[in-house]
Amino acid sequence: MTAVVAPPTTDGLSVRGLSVRFGGLVAVDNLDLDAPEGRLTGLIGPNGAGKTTTFDACSGLNTPSEGSVHLFGNDVSRLGPPARAQRGLGRTFQRMELFNSLSVADNVALGREAAMAGSNVLRQIVASRHEQDEMMEAAAGAMELCGISDLADRRASALSTGQRRLVELARALAGRFRILLLDEPSSGLDHNETARFGDILERVMAERGVGLLLVEHDMSLVMRVCHHVYVLDFGKLIFEGSTDDIRDSEIVRAAYLGAEEV
Ligand SMILES: Nc1ncnc2c1ncn2[C@@H]1O[C@H](COP(=O)(O)OP(=O)(O)O)[C@@H](O)[C@H]1O
Ligand SMILES: [Mg+2]
Repeated sequence: MTAVVAPPTTDGLSVRGLSVRFGGLVAVDNLDLDAPEGRLTGLIGPNGAGKTTTFDACSGLNTPSEGSVHLFGNDVSRLGPPARAQRGLGRTFQRMELFNSLSVADNVALGREAAMAGSNVLRQIVASRHEQDEMMEAAAGAMELCGISDLADRRASALSTGQRRLVELARALAGRFRILLLDEPSSGLDHNETARFGDILERVMAERGVGLLLVEHDMSLVMRVCHHVYVLDFGKLIFEGSTDDIRDSEIVRAAYLGAEEV
């Protein structure tokens, strides 16, 4: 019997039949996943399940052995990271560093600069006055959205973990991407900070209409903000559905949640 594979969607990120190998290890195994614009999609699973490897494959940082990545209906599987960024795909990294000696505003503006740089090598060297204005404007909008405008002039080295996470999110938003991959963006936050982070993700969705694909270990955040959730285990998709479906799923409970109440 031939497996029926859904065609890629045209309104965001689509992964079809994706496999990534490291030597003998199959880190991602025949994965299908969609992250549409205007929706918050979750990607969860235990450590080593293949979440970051999936993000790397989406943004062009590794070479899958099989499968395709589409952005808004176009096959980007053979394009490098800058070309994918130009087509609207941005991301944060699991352990992304801010530049401690720079101000918050400059750290955030770098997100816009990086997004623009991909399209023209010269821009990395000479930004026009207009581009500089545009960068600062994008940074101001992103800081406002994340509620950190009052920190604009603060040096990154003086921030708390909670503030750093918001600056990282603002930096990604300054790139004005249409789809954003967020890898454990709330790591290190306490309960209240995580709740506030969730509020900001919802506001980003409402005001920008971007699609967010969220790798997140905090299940209360996932259950609260995600429309649709994919569950990976040992590289394989073991479940996908709404948060209600996840809550009711025996497979997810057994493989991932254990006895934890969600
Ligand atoms: N560059 C690499 N070389 C070899 N193995 C890797 C590499 N990156 C990840 N892996 C392995 O692939 C699996 C998936 O890793 P990863 O995608 O980082 O998981 P997650 O983000 O879900 O915790 C793990 O077994 C990990 O050890
Ligand atoms: Mg990871």
